[in-house]
Amino acid sequence: MADHEFRCIRYEIRDETAWITVNRPEKLNALDRRTMEELGRAADEAAADPGVRVVVVTGAGEKAFVAGADIREMSTLDAREGEAFARFLQDTLDRLERLGKPVVAAVNGYALGGGCELAMACHVRIAADTARFGQPEVNLGLIPGAGGTQRLQRIVGRGRALDLILSGETIDAAEAHRIGLVNRVVPAADLQRTVEAFAALLRAKSPTAQARALEAILSGGEVAQPEAMRTEAAMFGLCFATADMREGTAAFLEKRKAAFPGK
Ligand code: HXC
Repeated sequence: MADHEFRCIRYEIRDETAWITVNRPEKLNALDRRTMEELGRAADEAAADPGVRVVVVTGAGEKAFVAGADIREMSTLDAREGEAFARFLQDTLDRLERLGKPVVAAVNGYALGGGCELAMACHVRIAADTARFGQPEVNLGLIPGAGGTQRLQRIVGRGRALDLILSGETIDAAEAHRIGLVNRVVPAADLQRTVEAFAALLRAKSPTAQARALEAILSGGEVAQPEAMRTEAAMFGLCFATADMREGTAAFLEKRKAAFPGK
């Protein structure tokens, strides 16, 4: 699908990396229904495109990654519509998390509410030092509804998740790093470069192994450990059916750099 079919996001492929940029800077990239629908389509497209090895999600402008779901749009919903809206956002973010390739959030500013939830659906979060994080829904009489009550506690632990969600307070990038909500913090001017370098690092590794690692981690995190161990072993076993594994082990033994065929 060409970029012109997207109105609220930009979808660009550079160096086998799909850059998904939420593009409503005048509303601090707030997620309305149309934007979420486009995000979901972009995730599906990146998943299906063999020319895409890594996905990066970011926000347009310097101020915001995503400042949350669109409050104006949500303000008129009733209970039934609210639940449906939450399910729609959850499903969209699940598609992103489950697209089978590494997904990196380049958090360039406010990541609040649904924006924090979007960042948490990505596998690795790299933040500008100017970014701010939080789940401020209680300030609106709401709770996180796009996976935040679940992903936040899995990432930072239940105690910290309760603190952030019950208080609605926002934290800066340094604090987000301290509690493990983000993987790396860099000066804002270096964010793009850092993410590009990390994407290049990811692209040099075996994509079949990355896909199986994602499956083992994401599926395993949701079931009891004995079952998760079986999934891990199954994914480990499947690696032995790949040319990537033959190449990776041969390259080690031959003391050279691996060139993964990606199958
Ligand atoms: C709709 C938003 C918005 C949002 C900002 N804007 N965030 N519109 N939904 N989430 C709009 C403002 O209304 C304003 O539009 C423009 O973007 C610029 O924002 P300002 O508020 O003027 O900027 P500033 O004073 O710098 O404050 C920045 C801010 C503040 C602190 C980030 O905008 C803010 O608190 N935003 C809301 C954050 C939030 O509560 N997010 C959680 C939403 S609930 P105009 O037209 O006036 O210029 C949620 C639930 C997810 O995400 C789960 C759903 C299932």
